[in-house]
Parts: sequence; C-alpha cells; structure tokens
Amino acid sequence: MLAEDIKNKFISLFNKNPLIVRSPGRINLIGEHTDYHGGYVLPAAIDMEIICAISTNYNNKCKIIAYDLKESVEFDLSNLDQSVKGWPDYILGVIKQFKNGGMEIKGFDCVFGGNIPQGVGLSSSAAMECAFAYSFNMLFEHDLSNLEIVKLSNEAASEVEGVKCGIMDQFASVNGKANQIFRLDCKTLEYEYFNFVLEDYRVVLCDTQLKHSLASSDYIKRRNECDEGVAILQKHYSNIHSLRDVTIGQLKQHRPEMNPAIFKRCKYVVEENDRVLDCCNLLKKGDLEGFGEKMFETHDGLRWDYEVSCKELDFLQAEAKMSNMVIGARMISGRSGGCTINIVKIEYLDQFVKYMSDSCKNELNLDLKTYHVKIENGTSKL
Ligand code: GLA
Repeated sequence: MLAEDIKNKFISLFNKNPLIVRSPGRINLIGEHTDYHGGYVLPAAIDMEIICAISTNYNNKCKIIAYDLKESVEFDLSNLDQSVKGWPDYILGVIKQFKNGGMEIKGFDCVFGGNIPQGVGLSSSAAMECAFAYSFNMLFEHDLSNLEIVKLSNEAASEVEGVKCGIMDQFASVNGKANQIFRLDCKTLEYEYFNFVLEDYRVVLCDTQLKHSLASSDYIKRRNECDEGVAILQKHYSNIHSLRDVTIGQLKQHRPEMNPAIFKRCKYVVEENDRVLDCCNLLKKGDLEGFGEKMFETHDGLRWDYEVSCKELDFLQAEAKMSNMVIGARMISGRSGGCTINIVKIEYLDQFVKYMSDSCKNELNLDLKTYHVKIENGTSKL
C-alpha cells in the first residue's frame, strides 16, 4: 500500500517511472549496548519500513519530498555544506559519504515515506540512511556490496549524530531476513542466521511515547566509562582490546582497581555478550522460554548496572513480567526512550494489550501505544 502510494505520488509529480527501494526498521532481541564494545547482538529487520521512489533528473539539483510529513527540500549538489535539520540531514549525510569515497552522485528526484515510529528504538533513521545509500548505489551504478552500504550508512549516521554509532542498526536494516534473527559479531562482522518462527508467541512493543532520551552525551559517557575499565584490564592482559575480549572472571579479579560505577558498566556488557551466546544455544534447542528469561535479565542489567532505563520502562517491564502473559520483556531503546519489547503468549495477545494499556494509564497516566511487529527481509529493490 505504502509503496504503491509513494510510487503514484512520484509519477504524478515527475511523470516518469522511479526505482523503488524498501528499507526496514529493526528490533534487537538481545545484545543491547554491546555493538560499540565490539560485542554480540541478535537483531532482526521488521515489517515497518521506509520506501524511497527515486530517479535521476540529469541536472545538478536534488528534489526530495517527504510524503508523510508533506515537506520537501531542494538543494544543489555543489552546495552540500548546508545543514537542514531533521530528515534532510540524513540524506545529505549519505550523499557526502558517497562523495568522500570518490563516488559520483548526480541530480535526482525523490518521494519517500515510511511507517516506522520515530524515537522509540526501531532505528527509523538507519532505515532511511540505508534506503538512500541502497538507492544511490543502484541509481548511479556504484557496485557497492551490502556490507559497504552498511558501513557507509553507519558513517553517515555517526557524522549526523556527532557520536560514533554502533553498526547494529544499519546492519540489521540491510541484512535482515524474514522469520530469522541473526547473531552479529560486531568485532569481526561475521553473522549467522537463526530461525525465529514464533508459532505460539508474538512480538509486541509497548511504547510510552515518552522521549526520555539517553542523550548522545550519555551514550558517549557509557562508552568512556567502559573504555576506562578496559584500560585497567589492559595493564594485566595483552590480548584485551575491548570488553568483548574480557571474561567475567577477569573483571571480578580486578574489581578492587575500579570505581564501582566503572565495574558495573563493564559487568553489564560482559554479561550481555554471554547472554547473546547463551540465547543462540537456547534457540538451537528450541527453548524460547529460556530465551525469554535472558531478556528479563537484560532488562535488570540495563536498569541496575548500565543505568540507562527510566521508571516508566521499568514499570512496563515489571508489569509484563508479572502478568504471566509474556515469556520475555525488556526495554529496547538505546538512546531514545519509549519502548519495551515483549514476547507475548499468543492466547493472551488482546488481553495483554488491554492490560498493559490500562496499567499504564492508571499508574503513569500515559496513553500506551502498542505495535505488533513481524520479522521481515532487509533492504531491497521492490
Ligand atoms: C542505538 C545505537 C545502536 C546500539 C543501541 C544500543 O540504537 O544506534 O548502534 O548501540 O543504541 O544497543
């Protein structure tokens, strides 16, 4: 539907047939705040997406229409140094990465739109960066591999956000597969898919719609705190380059040398990496309930050790856990508060949504939004 509407809008405006590219948002089942420590993550692409209809226009100008926002920008490729705050910055960021890599971008016309809620932890901006990087690659015949598209989009994100972002979001948007999640090793970029067919369960996101953001400065702070821990360990072990290389035994042994906050941050990351690996083993055995237990543990780690949660997310997670209608629940947001992810027993689906919405209203006076997500393919031409 969305793709049809956007295509029709493009044709009515530009009177030619566009290239249509779809790039999805992502969920991360487990492995939170591990990617930028060279650790493991277990994400998947979802059925919420950005659709980009685009065509060359044979001049030096770019005309872009944001279909849902009813906004547009026009700029000349010879002047990319302007910053147009908001969505245009992501597109300019991607164009600049192509140019930095010596790859030509010519003028284009574009209509894009999407249905990924923003700022709730579903990586709408990564979907957008990847949609445009993938489109430019096809349109201007640059022959980039998927991995190169991921890296380029990730660079663009880091430039725009002003903080070095982990690679998970772009990787998941581009490389996701329907009904599969994948374990990505953020150190080596090796990845392995696992079937994730939820016959008896559904993935439901509970969105408080609050923007309790872990601001960029906090993201940088956590990174620095962990680096401090790594520096202490490096005095003792020559093979440690990041927290990915650290065992819980090593960490505990050198606890007295660290201030308590540094120890807690590092402990969370080391344990979370282990949880991802445990979850892969549980999946291989078909033990989804065991998998869900690990998600509960992740939430506790994010709450008490990494300290990136907030009272609303803690409430939602605890409420879901106590309801017995889920097998796993945790906050999913990285920097942008708002959502918990829940693996809900299918027989309680409607009841769960009502229960959570009522509790949220009664206890927090917040109108909860819920999203049912399916696991879908990554970025592609339609
Ligand atoms: C944000 C970043 C990701 C990741 C998560 C936390 O979403 O963009 O790379 O670090 O936070 O897991």
